[in-house]
Amino acid sequence: MCGVTGYLGQRAAAPILLDSLKRLEYRGYDSCGLVVLNDGGVALRRSVEPLDRFRTVILSENLPGTVGLAHTRWATHGVADALNAHPHSSCDGTILAVHNGVLENGDELRATLIRQGHRFTSDTDSETIPHLVEQSLREGQTMDAAFAALPRRLVGSYAVLLVHAKTDAIYALRRDSPLVIGVGDNEYFPASDIPSFLPLTSRVVYITQDEPLVIDRTGIHRIRQHSPAGGREPLDRLPVILDQNVTSLSKDSFEHYMLKEILEQASTLERLIEVPPEPLAKARALLQKASSIKLIGAGTSYHACLFGEHAFGVGAGLDVEACVSSEFEFRASLLRPGAVVVALSQSGETADTIHAVRSAQGRGAKVISVTNSEMSTLAQMSDLVIPLRSGPELAVAATKSYTSQLAVLLLLDQELAPWAVTDVRSLWKARDSILNLTSTAARAHIAELAHELAVRPEVFLMGRGPHYVTALEAALKLKEVAGLRAEAFHGGEMKHGPLALIEEGAPVVMFYDRAGMTRTEIAASELIARGALVFTVGEQRLRSSHLHVRADDAGKATPIPQIIPLQLLSYEIAKIRGRDPDHPRNLAKSVTVI
Ligand code: M6R
Repeated sequence: MCGVTGYLGQRAAAPILLDSLKRLEYRGYDSCGLVVLNDGGVALRRSVEPLDRFRTVILSENLPGTVGLAHTRWATHGVADALNAHPHSSCDGTILAVHNGVLENGDELRATLIRQGHRFTSDTDSETIPHLVEQSLREGQTMDAAFAALPRRLVGSYAVLLVHAKTDAIYALRRDSPLVIGVGDNEYFPASDIPSFLPLTSRVVYITQDEPLVIDRTGIHRIRQHSPAGGREPLDRLPVILDQNVTSLSKDSFEHYMLKEILEQASTLERLIEVPPEPLAKARALLQKASSIKLIGAGTSYHACLFGEHAFGVGAGLDVEACVSSEFEFRASLLRPGAVVVALSQSGETADTIHAVRSAQGRGAKVISVTNSEMSTLAQMSDLVIPLRSGPELAVAATKSYTSQLAVLLLLDQELAPWAVTDVRSLWKARDSILNLTSTAARAHIAELAHELAVRPEVFLMGRGPHYVTALEAALKLKEVAGLRAEAFHGGEMKHGPLALIEEGAPVVMFYDRAGMTRTEIAASELIARGALVFTVGEQRLRSSHLHVRADDAGKATPIPQIIPLQLLSYEIAKIRGRDPDHPRNLAKSVTVI
């Protein structure tokens, strides 16, 4: 939920770190900070001001130094203030660290360190890290040995970057939190995520779990942990060259990433249909043998799992169930021998999903992950990885990754029941329908609708079967991006309670396909009779529609185009209501803490 970044090279570190922080802001922001080393001196700056303001102040200082660290924080331990902002330092101020993750034994470590005479200045668990290293130095260990001891001392998740004022190097370590190193020409960019350094290099070294590394002017080295003689060895892993197709991070001419990402969906879908991910065939072999299939995900990815429950494996007669990652622990004991887990996650770093997968693996389940990050923690834990290949999704709200997840499930379905031959055809129809829905005329129509809904206190959304999943996902978008109270109902459940909420002018958005039109028309009349204003998304307008958005049926893939107008609507309402669509309040893109 936080972003860590570092720089070691020939150029001034501060401007590079500040740019990198900006690109990591999507991971959550409530405060930030940086440290730059210069000739044994340390310039430490921390702030709760907006990042742009922080940047202006720091740039005006012209900080000298070519090594540094920076951090954007999403608070877990301690309020968002400058003292809790990272980097954190040792008592003597020479050791500084940035951390993303949660230390489960943070309180215990802090108590021990305080007994040993250390003074803490923040409420964070992260501050224990520089003090632990300082304590090891006091006990006579070398800097390398002190850092390499951390995996034995820390319990929980961490991506740590650490510097010592007198050492021209950056130390790096990770467990269950992402950390990679961008490699330029004699310069290094360790960071939580690839986007942070992408404009500067497309060569990346992935770091494995609990592998203490040190980056200096001669390269990246692994610190020997278990040899009594200590020492370092060069990291023999070659950098991976990133695919240029997926490396575009620019907003182009768009005002926000969210809009750019919504409008990319016709092409992300087309790419998946034209060049289906290779591992699909291998996945078929695993799934055909499965005693049962659990689809696991959080947030939007969970909605994709719910879609999977309807659309996937039915033709092949498979037993498929969707589970929310954070709830999986309550169902784990029901996992039968031979079960296969399909874990859906855009980032591959969602802590709840990783936790659920680990527990399923503990019970012998095989794991297939469907993710946008092939080198993520989730991917590395999986028996098979199906890439979403949506390209970087930087707005906090999931958009193109969701439709790609639905598409991958349908492609997988096609693998399992090729005789059906409907899935790929329906995906092409979905692509065409998206093109219509993102046309200038369609967007202008949705903007009109946005003005009607932006002033309402709440919005209700309804659908049956897979269209209920669209209602759920649309409600999530309206909540997180537009900041509206939005509630989704099963179309058939209306009379069992929700009708009590309907009063004069209450907006209800209804999703349906051709086959469901008659029943939806009846439900709409009942709603209108009680004062509701009915907005519809489907191929044909209902007689009672107040406002209608035409989204052509695409067979099993209909939920793919039908979510597009609601993504656009949430975006437009956010703008009308003065909210930043890319950075919803209190949320972060990757939820790497439980
Ligand atoms: O990276 P993941 O797909 O595992 O993320 C899961 C959720 O955190 C994510 O979908 C979240 O709900 C989005 N902000 C929704 O737009």
